[in-house]
Amino acid sequence: MRDLVAETRLHTSDLVAPLFVREGITSPQPIASLPGVVQHSLDSLSREVADLARLGVRGVILFGVPATKDETGSGAHDPAGIAQVALARLRAEVGDSMVLMADLCVDEYTSHGHCGILDATGDVDNDLTLDVYCRAAVAQADAGAHVVAPSGMMDGQVGAIRAALDAAGHTGTAIMAYSAKYASGLYGPFRDAVDVQITGGGDRKGYQQDWRNARESLREVREDIEQGADIVMVKPAVTYLDVISQVRAATDLPVAAYHVSGEYSMIKAAAANGWIDHDAVAMEQLTAVKRAGADIILTYFARWFAEQPTG
Ligand code: PBG
Repeated sequence: MRDLVAETRLHTSDLVAPLFVREGITSPQPIASLPGVVQHSLDSLSREVADLARLGVRGVILFGVPATKDETGSGAHDPAGIAQVALARLRAEVGDSMVLMADLCVDEYTSHGHCGILDATGDVDNDLTLDVYCRAAVAQADAGAHVVAPSGMMDGQVGAIRAALDAAGHTGTAIMAYSAKYASGLYGPFRDAVDVQITGGGDRKGYQQDWRNARESLREVREDIEQGADIVMVKPAVTYLDVISQVRAATDLPVAAYHVSGEYSMIKAAAANGWIDHDAVAMEQLTAVKRAGADIILTYFARWFAEQPTG
C-alpha cells in the first residue's frame, strides 16, 4: 500500500554520476575522503561508463585531474587536456547512449586553485575568466560533450558560453548551469579528488553564494535562464532543499541538484562507524532531493543506487 500511494519515486534515470579522470595513471587511484570513488585512468573510465550505461544511468559528469597546473588553467581548454581526451574517447565509445556532461571550470587546472584567472592583486578577474571558460566550452564540445556545465559562478558565464558555442557551430550543445552554488563547507572531499588546494588559505566567497541567502539563488537562476541555460542547478542538495523547492516553483526548466562530496562522505563515515544505516540514509537523502523538486540528481551514489533491486 505504501508503494502504491508513494508520491515520490526515485529512478536510476534521474541520476548523473560524477567521474574523475586523472592524467598519466594506468590504474584507478582511490580517494581517501570519498570511499568507493576513484580517480580513473582512461581505460578504467571507459569501463565505468560502459557499466553505468548497462545499469541504466543516463548521464555522467566528467572532471579532469591534469598532471600539471598553471596560472591560467590552460589544461581546461587544451584539446590535448585530459578531460578533452577522455570526452573524445567516451563519445566514440558510447555515442548518444549516455549523456556526456563536462564540468566547466578552471580550478582543477590552476596552480592557485581558484575558479578563475587572478588579477594583479590576487582577486579573480571575472571578465578575463569568461574568455577562458568560452575556450573551454568550445574545446569540450569539439571533443564530444553533449552538455557543458559551468561551475565557476562568474557573472555572465552562461551568456558568454552560449555565444561562444553558437559561434563555433555547437548550437546543439546544452548548458547545465551551476546557478545557485553556495560557498559550502561540504566540498572538502571533492578538492582531494581533484588535488586542489586554494593557495594562501583563500576561499571562494568572492564568487560563490552566502548560505544565509535564498532569494539570491532565485536571482542567479533567473539571470542564467535569461542568458540561455537549458538546465539550472542547486548545489549542495540536502542542505538546500528549500532552495531546490523555490527554484522548482520559479522555472519550467529541468532542475538539477548536486548531492556533493561532503554529503556523500558524511554518510559513508557515519555508516563505517556503525552509527547509521548506509542504505537507508542514502535512499532517504536522494529521495528527499527529488521530493523537493529536482529532476536530475548528481550523486556519487549513482552506481550504488542503480545496483539496488529497486534501482
Ligand atoms: C568546481 C566544482 C566544485 C565541485 C564541483 N565543481 C568545487 C568547488 O566549487 O570548490 C564540488 C563537488 C563536490 O563537492 O562533490 N569546479
